[in-house]
Amino acid sequence: MCGCLHREAFTGATLSPAEGKKKVPASEEAGYSTARCVAFAVARVFRPGDFTAMQSRGDRLMKSIVVVGAQWGDEGKGKVVDYLAGSFDYIARCAGGHNAGHTVIYDGNRFVLQLIPCGILRPGKHAVIGSGVVVDPVALAAELDTLAKSGIDVTGRLHLSNRAHLIFPYHRQMEKAAEAARGAWKIGTTSRGIGPAYEDKMARHGIRVGDLLNPARFREKLERVIAEKDAVCRATYGVPLDTAGMAEQYLELGERLRPLISDVSVLINHALDAGRSVLFEGAQGTMLDIDFGTYPYVTSSNAISGGVCTGLGVGPTRIDAVAGVTKAYTTRVGSGPFPTEMPDLEATEVRDRGKEYGAVTGRPRRCGWLDLVVLQYAIRINGISSLVVTKLDVFDTQKEIQVCIGYHYKGTPLREMPAAAEDLAEVTPEYATLPGWQSVTYGVQDAAKLPRLAVAYLKFISDFLGVEVGMISTGPDRDATIVCAATQLATWI
Ligand code: IMP
Repeated sequence: MCGCLHREAFTGATLSPAEGKKKVPASEEAGYSTARCVAFAVARVFRPGDFTAMQSRGDRLMKSIVVVGAQWGDEGKGKVVDYLAGSFDYIARCAGGHNAGHTVIYDGNRFVLQLIPCGILRPGKHAVIGSGVVVDPVALAAELDTLAKSGIDVTGRLHLSNRAHLIFPYHRQMEKAAEAARGAWKIGTTSRGIGPAYEDKMARHGIRVGDLLNPARFREKLERVIAEKDAVCRATYGVPLDTAGMAEQYLELGERLRPLISDVSVLINHALDAGRSVLFEGAQGTMLDIDFGTYPYVTSSNAISGGVCTGLGVGPTRIDAVAGVTKAYTTRVGSGPFPTEMPDLEATEVRDRGKEYGAVTGRPRRCGWLDLVVLQYAIRINGISSLVVTKLDVFDTQKEIQVCIGYHYKGTPLREMPAAAEDLAEVTPEYATLPGWQSVTYGVQDAAKLPRLAVAYLKFISDFLGVEVGMISTGPDRDATIVCAATQLATWI
C-alpha cells in the first residue's frame, strides 16, 4: 500500500533527498512510521528510471544480435552476416576454426573466409576472433595475405583473443590417423585438426594464442606437449610426430599476429557499454553442435547461440536477439543421420542447381527437403526470434516441394528430437507437399515481386514454426536479398 500511495502522490520530476523528505507529510498524515518515510525518501531519489547502471542495459541504443546456423552448417551465414554487417560496428566469431567456409560475393568479387569474420570486408568495421575459436596461425596468415592482395586493410580492425587455442600440425596428423582407424564409423571431418585441438583444450594441455607472445613459455609448453603426443602417436598409430621447425614457425607467426592479440572479452563488453552494436557470427550449425547436434557426427565446439557467451566472454543478458539461418531445403556434409535426405537423382538436381559443394573441402553436399522438426528444435535451443531463408531460388524450377512436418519412430509420432543419432537415423519423416512456383525468384530484391506460391511456401514455414521470416536470400550476390518489412529483423538494419 505504501509504495502505491507514493507512486500516486509523486509522479513528477526527480527530487533531491531533502525535497523527498519535505513531501513526507503526505504519508505522515496517513500514519506511516519514520522508517517507512526514510525508505520512501530513498525510493523517491532513485526512481526506476534513475538507476542509470541498469538503465544503460535496458534502454541502450546498442544492438547485439547472434546469427546462427539452424541446420547442419552451410546455410549461407556468410552472406547474411556480410549483409547485416553494414549496420553493425563489431562482427565477432565465437567458435569453430578454419573448418568453416563463409562465402561472400559482391561487386563481382568472391571471398571465402574461414577464420576471419566476414565483417572485415566492410570498411571501418571491427572483426573479432573469440576465445572459443581454435586458430591455426598458418591458415590465419594465409587469409590475411589473401585480404591484403585484395586491398583489404585489417590494421586496427581485426582482433584475436589471447585465450583462443592454437591448432598445430600434430592435431591434423592425429585426426587423420583417428579417422582412418574409425573405418566405416568415420565422422567425415574436414581434416583441419579442429577436434584434436578442442580435445587438448578440454584435457588442459592446449597451447593458447597468448602463449605465442612469450617465446620461452611457449617453447617450454610445446616441448612438454610434443613429448606426450609423440609417445601416444607411436604407441597408437605406430608413427612418430613430425615437429621439425614447428616452434620457430609458430613464434614467427606469433610476431606477425602480435598487433592483433588482446583480451577480446574486454573489447566487446566495453564496446557494448559504449552503445556500439555487435553482430555475433555463428559457424557450422545447430545440428553440428557438440552437445545438441547429431552426436558423434558433429563438430567439436558449441555452434549454437550459447557459444557466444562461452566463446567470447559476453554474458547472456547482453544479447538482444537471435537470427537463425536456414536454406529453403537442407544439406549436410560428412557422415551422420539425415532424415529428409533426397534420393540420388533428386539430390543431384538440387546439388547442381544450388552448387552444393563444400566451400572448404569441395566435397559434394548431401541434399534433402526442408525439415521443420530440425528448425523447431533449433528455434528452441538457440532462442531464435527471426528466421533467414536462403537459396529460395534453387527451387525456382521445382514442380512440387516436400516439407517435413513431423517424425515417426517405430510407428509412433515423436514429440522431440531424439538424443541418439542411431534413433534419428531410424525416424520416418512425415511430409506436407506444397506446389512449386516455377518462376524466377533469382535476384529478386522486393518481397512484392516474389511469386505468390513462393510467398505461400515461406508463410507455411513461418506459420508452422511461429517465428517470423525476417530476411530472404534469392542469390549469392550481396544485393540479391529481401528484408521483410515490419519484422524484428528489419529494425536491425
Ligand atoms: P570437423 O569440424 O572438421 O571436426 O568436422 C566434423 C563434422 O562437421 C563433419 O561432418 C564436417 O563435415 C562438419 N563440418 C564442420 N564444419 C562445417 C561447416 O562449416 N559446414 C558444414 N559442415 C561442417
